[in-house]
Amino acid sequence: MSKLAIIGGTGLTSLNGLQINRSETVETPFGAPSAALSFGEIAGRELVFLPRHGGSHTIPPHRINYRANLWALKQSGVTQVIAVNAVGGIRADMTPGRLIVPHQIIDYTHSRIDTFFEEGLEHVTHIDFTDPYCESLRQQLIAAAAPCGLEVIGEGTYAATQGPRLESAAEINRLERDGCDLVGMTGMPEAALARELELCYACVAVVANMGAGRSEEELTMEMIERTLVSGMADVRRLLEQVIAVLDA
Ligand code: HPA
Repeated sequence: MSKLAIIGGTGLTSLNGLQINRSETVETPFGAPSAALSFGEIAGRELVFLPRHGGSHTIPPHRINYRANLWALKQSGVTQVIAVNAVGGIRADMTPGRLIVPHQIIDYTHSRIDTFFEEGLEHVTHIDFTDPYCESLRQQLIAAAAPCGLEVIGEGTYAATQGPRLESAAEINRLERDGCDLVGMTGMPEAALARELELCYACVAVVANMGAGRSEEELTMEMIERTLVSGMADVRRLLEQVIAVLDA
């Protein structure tokens, strides 16, 4: 039987529809995860929720203990992970409020601990990351959109940047030339660590703003958070739908 976890990002530090049965503070060999794990039910299905930036949204992208987060989920029996990430849009149709289920990722982060395969190894291990996301979970997320009256963009290349600052306009142009469609700060090393632990991992990205230099509006946290309110309401609907039909 599969067990689902949702990792919430900016704008999703709790799940309305989640009936929490218990909360558990766990330790891992890599330290503490961002918050206690919330165990509960949505649509009659058990799941675990973890807010990536902590319960009060205080941990910046480059200080998240990604290893502890993924390890804690694996340790509690999780097999599937839906990651929710706020992003900037680069491709012209990736406008504020749009939902995207990316299919590829390019890692521009640095100085983050990005592997479990570091010490005490029996042999050097290289994971296959050709397709960084779990295709079956991606397809289920895409299929769940229409029944709840939502439209999602079912592919896109996610640029994972270091942050915590936003990009320069030239950086966004470079990311576009590299083939990136959306940009966020938390996609990596999370996706790679999930693969190392053999978790089925997919992402739902919510566009909070156009990438730097792509709109007249000044990029502020206030503006990003404002856009995310309605975007995250759509994400909640999508999650409820997908959870109800997810492969057991
Ligand atoms: N860039 C990087 N990360 C982001 C952005 C952005 O424009 N918006 C929300 N997260």
